[in-house]
Formats: sequence, C-alpha cells, structure tokens
Amino acid sequence: METRAVYPGSFDPVTNGHIDLIQRSAALFDKVIVAILRNTDKTPLFTVEERVTMLEEAVKDLKNVSVTSFAGLLVDFVEQIGASLIVRGIRAVSDYEYELQMALMNRRLSNKVETVFMLPAEAYSFLSSKLVKEIAQHGGPMHGFVPADVEKRLYSKFRKK
Ligand code: PNS
Repeated sequence: METRAVYPGSFDPVTNGHIDLIQRSAALFDKVIVAILRNTDKTPLFTVEERVTMLEEAVKDLKNVSVTSFAGLLVDFVEQIGASLIVRGIRAVSDYEYELQMALMNRRLSNKVETVFMLPAEAYSFLSSKLVKEIAQHGGPMHGFVPADVEKRLYSKFRKK
C-alpha cells in the first residue's frame, strides 16, 4: 500500500529548512502532502493563497509532493485524505516538548495516525519563519534562509507596511 505522509504547518513563509524536510520526506514516502493550516489564532503575514503559491514553487520539481490547506483538526484531515503519517521537524531540544505534546494528543485523537519526527540539515537548525520575518522587516540579508521568490515577497510586504 502507498505510504502517504502529511507535513502540516503554518509556513508563514516557507523557509529553506521546511524545504529540506520536504525533500527528505519525499525520498522516504510515496506521497507527501504539505498542508497549510487555515484557521489559526496567529495573524499571518501571508495569506493562505500566497503561502500555497510559494510552497508550490518550492516543490515543483518533486513529483510526489503536493500542496494544500486544511481547517479543523489535523488528524481528521489526515484520515480524510487517506494518509496515515504526520511529519514534523525537530530542530533542537527546545522544539521537542511542544512536538511531543502535539504528537501524543494527536495519537489520543486518532489511533490510525502516527507522527514521524525528522531532523533538518544542521545548517537550518536555527532557522524559523518568525526570525526570517523579523530580519526581513529590518532589511537584513535573507540569503540561504528562503527561496529567492519568497525573499522578494517578504521585502515587498514590509515595504508596503
Ligand atoms: O508550523 P506550526 O505553526 O508549528 O504548525 C502547527 C500545526 C498546524 C501543525 C498545528 O497547530 C495543528 O495541527 N493545528 C490543527 C488543529 C489541531 O489539530 N490541533 C490539535 C493538535 S494536537
């Protein structure tokens, strides 16, 4: 049977760390569905449509990866699309507590869904969408953190503000 994995997140915006994890997942699983959370308490910088566009551009060469968005509970979405795995990245020990809590809660919500933790390349272990936005806001260098089109979009967002 085909192994479908969902890589969920806010992706506001996608970083090279996310892309590294998507590439690693694409090499492991038959299908990877990158899923952007639609309903969130956070106020995102980019709309869901903008985030879908940026991610689609980033994964266009990976034939077994698709990009979509979801609302509601993650485990419900995973089951609806016939997937059985959730992929989450752990950069450092500091990520672990939150990820453990989520994975165990998701396991409680559905015993059909398993969480797989993956490590991004060391070079991205300090990278986050939050820090990237902060740097872009102050006009700092983005090279190596995000794809070129995301860099342009980041700068133009902050120019407009
Ligand atoms: O990139 P993020 O913001 O760390 O991703 C968090 C995400 C989207 C994976 C998480 O907030 C989520 O799954 N939200 C959907 C609602 C849900 O299922 N909540 C219970 C999780 S235990």
